[in-house]
Formats: sequence, C-alpha cells, structure tokens
Amino acid sequence: MCQKQAKVASVFPAIQLKEMSPEEIEQVYLIESLSFSAPWARESLENAIDNPFAINLVAIVENEIRGFVMAIFRQEAMHIINLAVHPKARRCSIGRNLLKELLIWAQQKKVLWAFLEVRSQNFSAISLYEREGFLLIERIPAYYANDGDDGLIMAKFLS
Ligand SMILES: CC(C)(COP(=O)(O)OP(=O)(O)OC[C@H]1O[C@@H](n2cnc3c(N)ncnc32)[C@H](O)[C@@H]1OP(=O)(O)O)[C@@H](O)C(=O)NCCC(=O)NCCS
Repeated sequence: MCQKQAKVASVFPAIQLKEMSPEEIEQVYLIESLSFSAPWARESLENAIDNPFAINLVAIVENEIRGFVMAIFRQEAMHIINLAVHPKARRCSIGRNLLKELLIWAQQKKVLWAFLEVRSQNFSAISLYEREGFLLIERIPAYYANDGDDGLIMAKFLS
C-alpha cells in the first residue's frame, strides 16, 4: 500500500466507502489501536454503532477495511468523534475520502456545522482538516489528560 502521495491518481487502489457494520468492529478496533496513544475501548466502538444519532463509515481497499470515520449528529450540528487510517495505508487519500463522504452525507441531512477536536501536535490531521475547509475556532490548553497536549476545536460551515 502507498505510504506517500503518488503523483498519478490512478496509482491508488480503488476505495469503497460504506456504513460500518457490527461484524467490522474487530478490524476497526485494530486500526484504532494502531493509531492512537489512548485508543477507544472496543465497547465504545460498539456503542457508537448502536447510537441512532451516529454515522459511522469505513473505507475498504482490496477487500480490507483500511480506515473509518465516526460522527454524532444532532439537528444542525455534527461532531466528528473519530477518524483513523491503517498505518500501512496512509497517504493514499483514504482519510480525505472518508471525510468528504461524511460531509456529503451531512449536507444531505441538512446538517449546517461540522465540529471536531484535534491534538495541537497532530500536524497530519490538522493539515487534512484545513485542506477540507475546517477553521480553528478555539484552543483548549492541556485538553488531553494523558500527555497534556492542547486541543484545537475546528469547525466547518456546510452551506
Ligand atoms: C490523519 C489521518 C486520518 C490522515 O489519513 P490519510 O489517509 O493518511 O490522509 P490522506 O492521504 O487522505 O491525506 C489527505 C491530506 O492530509 C494531510 N496529511 C495526511 N498525512 C500527512 C502527513 N503524514 N504529513 C503531512 N500532511 C499529511 C495532507 O494535507 C494530505 O493532503 P496531500 O496528500 O494532498 O498532501 C491518518 O494520518 C491517521 O489515521 N492518523 C492517526 C489517527 C489520527 O490522528 N486521526 C485524527 C484524529 S483527530
């Protein structure tokens, strides 16, 4: 899999996006564990699937789940609560495609605002969000208890 952006888009394998199903939790949990210093517990992922106010998408490449995004929506606002791509599948546009698909879904549901929190040191994720039109609205000092990193609250207006 690609680790680095190729110059020719067709080099990337096809990415299929779909709603997450309970049978896929195991693979999602593996990606979660490989991606975060304080990963979610398995039960938290399962609860998100059962939540009627949640939308959870997975990206499948060559029959394997390679990334996922999870969000909670309430009326006009959506909160993106989790996004990760398998370390071996990064820089293949999977994260960007997941985010774009989620935002299209949200617009169709008449969601007006998308919010998220990101670590101030997570430069790759911040770059992705900025490129997709998210703006910094607040910096929260020492937001992350496990290492004291600041949290950045970012938002995008979905016209
Ligand atoms: C952040 C993350 C989801 C990005 O997924 P990805 O599929 O690798 O990203 P994409 O290939 O779609 O890249 C889209 C854009 O993100 C940014 N980006 C992604 N990885 C980057 C890196 N290593 N360095 C700098 N920018 C990066 C770039 O702006 C990139 O656009 P470009 O390729 O045109 O330069 C992935 O790195 C990841 O899973 N990280 C660990 C979990 C995490 O931090 N999740 C976010 C929590 S808020």
